Amino acid sequence: MLKPNGRVVMISGANRGIGLATAHALSTAGYRVSLGARTPASIDLSSFANEVAVHTWDANDQETSAQWAEATRNQFGSIDAIVLNAGIIVNADLETGLESDMDDMWNVNFKGPLRLIRSVLADLKVCGHGRVVNVVSLSGKRLLNESSLGYAASKFASLALTHAIRRNGWDSGIRATAVCPGLVDTDMVTNVTTPEGQFKITPAAIAATVAYALSLPNDASVAEILVNSRLEPSF
Ligand SMILES: NC(=O)c1ccc[n+]([C@@H]2O[C@H](COP(=O)([O-])OP(=O)(O)OC[C@H]3O[C@@H](n4cnc5c(N)ncnc54)[C@H](OP(=O)(O)O)[C@@H]3O)[C@@H](O)[C@H]2O)c1
Repeated sequence: MLKPNGRVVMISGANRGIGLATAHALSTAGYRVSLGARTPASIDLSSFANEVAVHTWDANDQETSAQWAEATRNQFGSIDAIVLNAGIIVNADLETGLESDMDDMWNVNFKGPLRLIRSVLADLKVCGHGRVVNVVSLSGKRLLNESSLGYAASKFASLALTHAIRRNGWDSGIRATAVCPGLVDTDMVTNVTTPEGQFKITPAAIAATVAYALSLPNDASVAEILVNSRLEPSF
């Protein structure tokens, strides 16, 4: 297994939800973390166990991807891994879903991660054990309901991005994993209730899954990890 041992990992959308839980878990495990957020000042850096940096990153602001990568390189000297976590959801169904909402999800859920990967790919290749964990969704695997068409389309694309990274980086030791959760207990789904006796996944459980994917050696690569707290027909 790969040990954290001060390896440098970037985490997008690290100011709340799954991103913040992952940032804390990885820092506690011994990674040096570089956090990307639209509101960097909102992150309490004193709560981290190891060396930490925070930078402005906005999926809709093209230049911030290269700027965050450069700042991370300058501060830590290398980039070993990245967790592509930031994302948004808006209901956009087949008949009435707004194209502008679908464009927003495409930009944040697909083009944001694409720009980040392009900014760090050379760093990940050079270290020989680069890791990418893409927080996709089970909505990248199936259409749960029609109202999630726009979100699912962006997450299917995000899953394709993960597989493209695997193919591109394989010979250089990059291993990419798509973590695909069902409902996770964050702001994103506060309006979604679960039936009696069913629960949402905790952000800490997804953070542990991300840490596991980062720890796998080059010869034990897992392409997709599907995580659910309830029994669906296929998942
Ligand atoms: N919660 C679920 O049930 C669930 C299930 C499966 C997959 N996921 C995926 O898990 C990831 C994290 O979601 P979450 O549940 O932790 O949601 P969340 O609590 O709503 O957090 C979303 C994060 O994404 C950031 N973000 C949104 N738009 C951004 C932009 N334009 N540029 C940069 N960052 C942006 C947010 O930053 P701000 O605070 O600035 O808005 C926030 O840090 C997402 O990719 C989501 O699709 C979530």
